[in-house]
Amino acid sequence: MGSSSKRTIISSVENTMNEHTAKLTVISMNPEETFLIGKIIGRNLIEKDVVALVGDLGTGKTCLTQGIGRGLGVPDEYQITSPSFTLINEYQGRMMLYHFDLYRLSRTSEMDDMGYEEYFFGQGVTVIEWADKVKGILPDETLFVLINYTDENERNIIISGQEKKIATISEELGNGGF
Ligand SMILES: Nc1ncnc2c1ncn2[C@@H]1O[C@H](COP(=O)(O)OP(=O)(O)O)[C@@H](O)[C@H]1O
Ligand SMILES: [Mg+2]
Repeated sequence: MGSSSKRTIISSVENTMNEHTAKLTVISMNPEETFLIGKIIGRNLIEKDVVALVGDLGTGKTCLTQGIGRGLGVPDEYQITSPSFTLINEYQGRMMLYHFDLYRLSRTSEMDDMGYEEYFFGQGVTVIEWADKVKGILPDETLFVLINYTDENERNIIISGQEKKIATISEELGNGGF
Protein backbone atom coordinates (compact mmCIF):
# COMPACT_ATOMS: atom_id res chain seq x y z
CA MET A 1 0.00 0.00 0.00
CA GLY A 2 2.60 2.51 -1.14
CA SER A 3 4.67 4.06 1.64
CA SER A 4 2.39 2.58 4.26
CA SER A 5 2.67 -0.97 2.88
CA LYS A 6 4.32 -2.23 6.06
CA ARG A 7 1.27 -1.38 8.11
CA THR A 8 -1.07 -4.24 8.87
CA ILE A 9 -4.43 -2.93 7.80
CA ILE A 10 -6.45 -5.95 8.80
CA SER A 11 -7.76 -5.81 12.31
CA SER A 12 -9.76 -8.99 12.33
CA VAL A 13 -11.53 -11.69 10.41
CA GLU A 14 -14.21 -13.63 12.15
CA ASN A 15 -16.82 -16.14 11.27
CA THR A 16 -20.33 -14.92 11.78
CA MET A 17 -23.37 -16.86 12.96
CA ASN A 18 -23.84 -18.44 9.56
CA GLU A 19 -20.94 -20.82 8.85
CA HIS A 20 -20.74 -19.70 5.22
CA THR A 21 -20.28 -16.04 5.94
CA ALA A 22 -17.44 -14.09 7.49
CA LYS A 23 -16.60 -10.56 8.51
CA LEU A 24 -13.43 -8.57 7.99
CA THR A 25 -12.58 -5.30 9.72
CA VAL A 26 -10.13 -2.95 8.04
CA ILE A 27 -8.85 0.46 9.09
CA SER A 28 -8.28 2.91 6.26
CA MET A 29 -5.99 5.84 7.05
CA ASN A 30 -6.59 7.87 3.88
CA PRO A 31 -8.65 7.95 0.64
CA GLU A 32 -5.92 6.06 -1.26
CA GLU A 33 -6.25 3.12 1.10
CA THR A 34 -10.03 3.10 0.76
CA PHE A 35 -9.55 3.16 -3.03
CA LEU A 36 -7.15 0.22 -2.80
CA ILE A 37 -9.56 -1.74 -0.62
CA GLY A 38 -12.19 -1.11 -3.30
CA LYS A 39 -9.81 -2.21 -6.02
CA ILE A 40 -9.15 -5.50 -4.25
CA ILE A 41 -12.88 -6.04 -3.83
CA GLY A 42 -13.42 -5.23 -7.52
CA ARG A 43 -10.80 -7.69 -8.67
CA ASN A 44 -12.60 -10.46 -6.85
CA LEU A 45 -16.12 -9.81 -8.07
CA ILE A 46 -17.90 -12.06 -10.51
CA GLU A 47 -20.98 -11.55 -12.65
CA LYS A 48 -24.19 -10.92 -10.66
CA ASP A 49 -22.35 -9.94 -7.48
CA VAL A 50 -24.05 -7.17 -5.53
CA VAL A 51 -22.03 -4.91 -3.22
CA ALA A 52 -24.03 -2.94 -0.64
CA LEU A 53 -22.30 0.19 0.68
CA VAL A 54 -23.55 1.64 3.94
CA GLY A 55 -22.17 4.76 5.62
CA ASP A 56 -22.92 8.41 6.26
CA LEU A 57 -22.37 11.17 3.73
CA GLY A 58 -18.65 11.73 3.14
CA THR A 59 -17.44 8.47 4.63
CA GLY A 60 -16.00 7.22 1.33
CA LYS A 61 -18.62 5.14 -0.48
CA THR A 62 -17.92 6.79 -3.83
CA CYS A 63 -14.16 6.62 -3.20
CA LEU A 64 -14.46 2.87 -2.58
CA THR A 65 -16.64 2.48 -5.70
CA GLN A 66 -13.94 4.20 -7.77
CA GLY A 67 -11.51 1.53 -6.56
CA ILE A 68 -14.02 -1.23 -7.33
CA GLY A 69 -14.35 0.16 -10.86
CA ARG A 70 -10.59 0.03 -11.42
CA GLY A 71 -10.49 -3.47 -9.98
CA LEU A 72 -13.14 -4.38 -12.52
CA GLY A 73 -11.04 -2.96 -15.32
CA VAL A 74 -12.96 0.25 -16.02
CA PRO A 75 -10.36 2.34 -17.93
CA ASP A 76 -8.82 5.34 -16.14
CA GLU A 77 -10.32 7.81 -18.61
CA TYR A 78 -13.78 7.02 -17.28
CA GLN A 79 -14.24 9.05 -14.13
CA ILE A 80 -16.51 7.27 -11.69
CA THR A 81 -18.74 9.75 -9.88
CA SER A 82 -21.99 9.40 -8.01
CA PRO A 83 -24.99 9.66 -10.29
CA SER A 84 -26.78 12.87 -9.22
CA PHE A 85 -29.88 13.15 -11.36
CA THR A 86 -30.34 9.48 -12.08
CA LEU A 87 -30.15 6.59 -9.66
CA ILE A 88 -27.61 4.71 -11.71
CA ASN A 89 -24.45 5.08 -13.82
CA GLU A 90 -23.05 2.27 -15.95
CA TYR A 91 -19.40 1.61 -16.80
CA GLN A 92 -17.81 -1.01 -19.01
CA GLY A 93 -14.94 -2.95 -17.48
CA ARG A 94 -14.13 -6.64 -17.88
CA MET A 95 -17.85 -6.73 -17.21
CA MET A 96 -20.42 -4.02 -16.60
CA LEU A 97 -20.40 -2.00 -13.39
CA TYR A 98 -23.85 -0.77 -12.39
CA HIS A 99 -23.34 1.99 -9.84
CA PHE A 100 -26.45 2.98 -7.89
CA ASP A 101 -26.60 5.95 -5.55
CA LEU A 102 -29.86 5.85 -3.62
CA TYR A 103 -29.34 9.04 -1.60
CA ARG A 104 -32.36 10.61 -3.30
CA LEU A 105 -34.51 7.49 -3.34
CA SER A 106 -37.77 8.16 -1.54
CA ARG A 107 -39.64 4.88 -2.01
CA THR A 108 -38.40 1.31 -2.60
CA SER A 109 -40.96 1.03 -5.38
CA GLU A 110 -38.79 3.41 -7.45
CA MET A 111 -36.38 0.47 -7.69
CA ASP A 112 -39.14 -1.67 -9.19
CA ASP A 113 -40.02 1.13 -11.61
CA MET A 114 -36.48 1.21 -12.93
CA GLY A 115 -36.32 -2.57 -13.25
CA TYR A 116 -33.50 -3.09 -10.76
CA GLU A 117 -33.54 -6.86 -11.31
CA GLU A 118 -32.14 -6.35 -14.80
CA TYR A 119 -29.06 -4.96 -13.08
CA PHE A 120 -28.79 -7.16 -9.99
CA PHE A 121 -29.16 -10.32 -12.03
CA GLY A 122 -27.66 -9.00 -15.27
CA GLN A 123 -24.29 -9.36 -16.95
CA GLY A 124 -22.22 -7.36 -14.56
CA VAL A 125 -21.81 -6.35 -10.94
CA THR A 126 -23.92 -3.91 -8.96
CA VAL A 127 -22.55 -1.48 -6.37
CA ILE A 128 -25.13 0.39 -4.29
CA GLU A 129 -24.47 3.48 -2.19
CA TRP A 130 -27.05 3.94 0.61
CA ALA A 131 -27.99 0.26 0.25
CA ASP A 132 -29.57 0.29 3.73
CA LYS A 133 -32.54 2.00 2.08
CA VAL A 134 -33.35 -1.13 0.07
CA LYS A 135 -32.34 -3.93 2.47
CA GLY A 136 -35.42 -5.96 1.59
CA ILE A 137 -34.52 -6.44 -2.06
CA LEU A 138 -30.82 -7.29 -1.67
CA PRO A 139 -29.84 -10.83 -2.71
CA ASP A 140 -28.81 -13.26 0.07
CA GLU A 141 -25.23 -13.38 -1.18
CA THR A 142 -24.77 -9.59 -1.07
CA LEU A 143 -21.33 -8.38 0.00
CA PHE A 144 -21.80 -5.68 2.63
CA VAL A 145 -19.34 -2.86 3.21
CA LEU A 146 -20.04 -0.66 6.23
CA ILE A 147 -17.93 2.47 6.44
CA ASN A 148 -17.68 4.35 9.71
CA TYR A 149 -16.05 7.72 10.19
CA THR A 150 -13.55 7.53 13.06
CA ASP A 151 -11.39 10.59 12.36
CA GLU A 152 -10.89 13.15 9.61
CA ASN A 153 -8.86 10.74 7.49
CA GLU A 154 -9.58 7.47 9.24
CA ARG A 155 -12.38 5.03 8.47
CA ASN A 156 -13.37 1.76 10.07
CA ILE A 157 -14.51 -0.52 7.25
CA ILE A 158 -16.40 -3.73 7.90
CA ILE A 159 -16.72 -6.12 4.97
CA SER A 160 -19.04 -9.09 5.36
CA GLY A 161 -20.34 -11.76 3.07
CA GLN A 162 -19.52 -15.17 1.65
CA GLU A 163 -16.65 -16.75 3.55
CA LYS A 164 -14.58 -17.60 0.45
CA LYS A 165 -14.75 -14.09 -0.92
CA ILE A 166 -13.88 -12.57 2.46
CA ALA A 167 -10.91 -14.95 2.76
CA THR A 168 -9.55 -13.90 -0.66
CA ILE A 169 -10.03 -10.19 0.01
CA SER A 170 -8.40 -10.57 3.41
CA GLU A 171 -5.43 -12.40 1.91
CA GLU A 172 -4.89 -9.76 -0.78
CA LEU A 173 -5.15 -6.97 1.78
CA GLY A 174 -2.57 -8.76 3.88
CA ASN A 175 -0.24 -8.77 0.88
CA GLY A 176 -0.52 -5.02 0.62
CA GLY A 177 -2.96 -5.31 -2.24
CA PHE A 178 -0.64 -7.02 -4.72
N1 LIG B 1 -9.80 7.12 4.79
C1 LIG B 1 -10.62 7.73 3.91
N2 LIG B 1 -11.32 7.02 3.01
C2 LIG B 1 -12.15 7.61 2.15
N3 LIG B 1 -12.37 8.93 2.07
C3 LIG B 1 -11.69 9.71 2.92
C4 LIG B 1 -10.79 9.15 3.88
N4 LIG B 1 -10.25 10.16 4.59
C5 LIG B 1 -10.78 11.28 4.10
N5 LIG B 1 -11.65 11.04 3.10
C6 LIG B 1 -12.40 12.05 2.36
O1 LIG B 1 -13.78 11.80 2.60
C7 LIG B 1 -14.53 12.11 1.43
C8 LIG B 1 -15.31 10.87 0.98
O2 LIG B 1 -16.14 11.26 -0.07
P1 LIG B 1 -17.08 10.25 -0.87
O3 LIG B 1 -16.31 9.07 -1.31
O4 LIG B 1 -17.76 11.05 -1.92
O5 LIG B 1 -18.10 9.83 0.30
P2 LIG B 1 -19.57 9.25 0.17
O6 LIG B 1 -19.74 8.70 -1.22
O7 LIG B 1 -19.65 8.21 1.24
O8 LIG B 1 -20.50 10.39 0.44
C9 LIG B 1 -13.53 12.58 0.36
O9 LIG B 1 -13.50 13.97 0.38
C10 LIG B 1 -12.22 11.99 0.85
O10 LIG B 1 -11.11 12.75 0.45
MG1 LIG C 1 -21.23 9.04 -2.71
